[in-house]
Amino acid sequence: MNLRRRDFIKTTAASAFTAPLILNAQKAKMIKTAVIGAGWWGMNIAQAALASGQCKIAALCDVDDSQLSSAREKLRPLTSVEPKWYKDYRELLQDEKPEIVIVATPDHWHALPTIAAIEAGADVYVEKPICHTINEGRAMVKAARDHERIVQVGLHRRTSPHNMSAINFLKQGGAGKIGMIRSFVHSDGGRGRPTPDSDIPPGLDWDFWCGPAPYRPYNAKMHPRGFRAFLDYANGQLGDWGIHWLDHILWWSEEKYPRTVHSIGARHILQDNTDAPDTQVVHYQFEEFIATWENRRYGGNDAEKHELGIYFYGTLGTVHIGWHDGWTFYPVGRNAEILHELPQLHEPDQQNIPELWSNFLACIETREKPVCDIEIAQRSTNMSLLGVLSAKVGRSIQWDGEKEIIADDPEANHYLQRDYRAPWIYPR
Ligand SMILES: NC(=O)c1ccc[n+]([C@@H]2O[C@H](COP(=O)([O-])OP(=O)(O)OC[C@H]3O[C@@H](n4cnc5c(N)ncnc54)[C@H](O)[C@@H]3O)[C@@H](O)[C@H]2O)c1
Repeated sequence: MNLRRRDFIKTTAASAFTAPLILNAQKAKMIKTAVIGAGWWGMNIAQAALASGQCKIAALCDVDDSQLSSAREKLRPLTSVEPKWYKDYRELLQDEKPEIVIVATPDHWHALPTIAAIEAGADVYVEKPICHTINEGRAMVKAARDHERIVQVGLHRRTSPHNMSAINFLKQGGAGKIGMIRSFVHSDGGRGRPTPDSDIPPGLDWDFWCGPAPYRPYNAKMHPRGFRAFLDYANGQLGDWGIHWLDHILWWSEEKYPRTVHSIGARHILQDNTDAPDTQVVHYQFEEFIATWENRRYGGNDAEKHELGIYFYGTLGTVHIGWHDGWTFYPVGRNAEILHELPQLHEPDQQNIPELWSNFLACIETREKPVCDIEIAQRSTNMSLLGVLSAKVGRSIQWDGEKEIIADDPEANHYLQRDYRAPWIYPR
């Protein structure tokens, strides 16, 4: 990139979320923490919990023995506590009575364990998107409020120094008046080929894994990690990556929801056995600006400079906020200075979970709402889910964010929830 770089002072953003940790580290009591969903991201959060010096991982729950045993191997060098193993989160909650529960299951399994953990008296750190259908999110917020629990959601970019300073720059008018926002993820990839269904691997309770969602034959492409591209269990790129960048729109604007949402999604390229769109566009209409989301899983190239993130287009220039590429301000006018700030990310997987965890612990102590409170994340999740819903019904939808319904559209409102597979009951 042909940029003249100017590094900003980066200390304020980072210290805002780490100070409480230093104070609390003097306390001896270790907070009893359990993980439900001991896969890739669950272990990243567990590692941040251990690194805080204030938490012990007392129990791990996963429906797959092989995931449990690799989780145990990962944690072993980090702690002398040997976590107990569970396959059913209800037994874990009853037997262990954890003070903190981390929920890092696939998206279709976020709502019920989160609500159960809240009802069991735990404070919860649940992954994004908070739910698979919109009314699950309502029930989760209600449970958190009724039981006065702290519920932090894994939108760690809200505590990431470069994302914070970019939003601060925008809020201070650095890019002038913003009229349009474009958020996106483009990744390279081929057309793919189908993976045949296969026998359920030993030690995996596949029926439990499918849980409240439709039961489908086991397919190695779905688990682990592959659920994202199957609409019964997640919501494709829009649900996975989309929420991170759509959250920036609400974060910057302090709006609670868009008025109108219109989306088109299609599978034009992929020929594998996933079913999420490989191509999707969403338009969001707000009072003061228009925002878009787009994803595609092909045609990765250097022509577009940034492969993911969000552009804010303003009267004084354009801000791009990204991930490894930090954030950049491209001012109007050839001779004006381009501003650039590098990210400050943690291993593994270049994230800012430690800052988010630190804020979670501080809020557990003060009982204040955390930076990614469940209600904030519910609204951002809804940005994704309303896009999914509009594509499903094939038309624009008018979102009444106060009543949390779609205006004058009974068919679209039908998709705010779905039938659960017995014995699981949709949360109210
Ligand atoms: N915030 C972020 O940047 C970020 C990054 C990656 C993943 N995530 C989120 O984390 C969640 C997990 O993603 P992942 O990539 O770690 O998936 P994964 O497949 O690696 O892990 C999920 C685990 O949950 C287990 N599981 C399924 N149903 C369960 C149940 N009922 N009880 C207990 N365990 C169950 C699975 O067996 C699996 O081991 C997703 O919601 C994803 O969106 C967030």
